[in-house]
Amino acid sequence: MSRFLIHGGRPLKGRVRASGRKNAAVALLPAALLAEGPVRLENVPDIADVHTYVDILEAVGVDVRRPEPGVVEVDASSLAGRPAPYELVKKMRASYYLLGALLARTGRAEVALPGGCDIGTRPIDQHIKAFQALGADVTIEHGVVRAEAARLRGARIYLDIVSVGATINAMLAASRAEGTTIIENAAKEPHVVDVAILLNAMGGRVVGAGTDVIKVTGVPRLGAAEHTVIPDEIEAATYLMAAAGTRGDVVVEGVVTKHLEPVIAKLHEAGAQVEYDADWIRVRADGRLRAVSVKTLPYPGFPTDAQQPMTALLSTAEGTSTVTETIHEARFRHVDELKRMGTRIRVEGRTAVIEGVERLSGAPVQATDLRAGAALVVAGLMADGCTEVSGVEYLDRGYERMEEKLRTLGARIERVEAAVTA
Ligand code: EPZ
Repeated sequence: MSRFLIHGGRPLKGRVRASGRKNAAVALLPAALLAEGPVRLENVPDIADVHTYVDILEAVGVDVRRPEPGVVEVDASSLAGRPAPYELVKKMRASYYLLGALLARTGRAEVALPGGCDIGTRPIDQHIKAFQALGADVTIEHGVVRAEAARLRGARIYLDIVSVGATINAMLAASRAEGTTIIENAAKEPHVVDVAILLNAMGGRVVGAGTDVIKVTGVPRLGAAEHTVIPDEIEAATYLMAAAGTRGDVVVEGVVTKHLEPVIAKLHEAGAQVEYDADWIRVRADGRLRAVSVKTLPYPGFPTDAQQPMTALLSTAEGTSTVTETIHEARFRHVDELKRMGTRIRVEGRTAVIEGVERLSGAPVQATDLRAGAALVVAGLMADGCTEVSGVEYLDRGYERMEEKLRTLGARIERVEAAVTA
């Protein structure tokens, strides 16, 4: 168990590069097992969720090589199709992608109900509905989802909820089905598009990804490909918010600026100075920001995964801000921890009402999930004195070398391994 010790109150300054996107990488890795040939993925972030996914792929019988930093080669030519071990699957939500990928590749998938961040009930009914529409028999018994189909057949799938996971899983399952699948009310997130690009590079026929209707024409076989993972917009957003909150001046490089439009808009509205080009964004702030209202929505709305650090940022903005969470049920667990640092935030249903205070003061706080941890790091960098963030293992799931990157921006942050007590 590690902690971050942060001596805050210093403006962040300098340049930092965005890593590959976590939520793309954890979908591209299972997508690669659809190919009967090697798939080379570049710009893969070195984070715990990727390590777990590599372990899962190896456990189901896929060859995985990491020839150099940032590169993962997946070769599922001789896929064994063994069940994925529960102790790995329960570590992350994205293990649900094995269902779609194995079902399409081997006609059979058996995966324990996925784990992941505790941010409310996270059903997978839309994933199951998609598999059933394609002709699979799906059962859930003793916490294990089993999906089977002698032959998947293209179908029209209407998703009741805009779901990133269900959209990608439906694309994976449909990619080798007989005939054409239409996914309606599909999620439009850039990582949905990234998966479609990989499937097409492997010989698939996916059109419309990035819009709310995706058409997948099944092919009998997918093969070798190379693909570069898109940049992580949530990591980038976290550093941009830390820059604004510490009244600093930071350039985040290697981004797709278009993917960050809602974050840029809110930073600008709050009074930060924002400049950008297609692949970099610079944020500066000289004084207190202004209160703003934020509402999370599916892409291209404000991303739920950036909501928690945004709450931290707004805690010192002048006036009363509101942050409304519409995607996940319980994504305000960081608020009680932020209160230890002198914030004035109350949660009313799905809205956090934030009365901006002048300064935050460092305190011991506990990360309860990945982005809650990011919020506490942002707050710790903004606060006077020392903040001790426990639960750094959550941050390690999604942020590559976070403390090193922040140190290059002048932050005083160090990782401390907790003493083992007998
Ligand atoms: C993905 O989760 C991300 N995780 C989440 O990122 C992200 O918050 C979320 O998309 C929204 O952008 C991964 O990619 C691994 P959804 P996912 O299906 O796919 C409900 C992070 O911090 N729903 O789009 O699970 C669901 O409960 C993480 O990086 C159903 O009701 O999200 C939620 O309320 C956390 N039934 C909403 O839809 C279903 O079958 C959107 O969920 C599926 C989802």
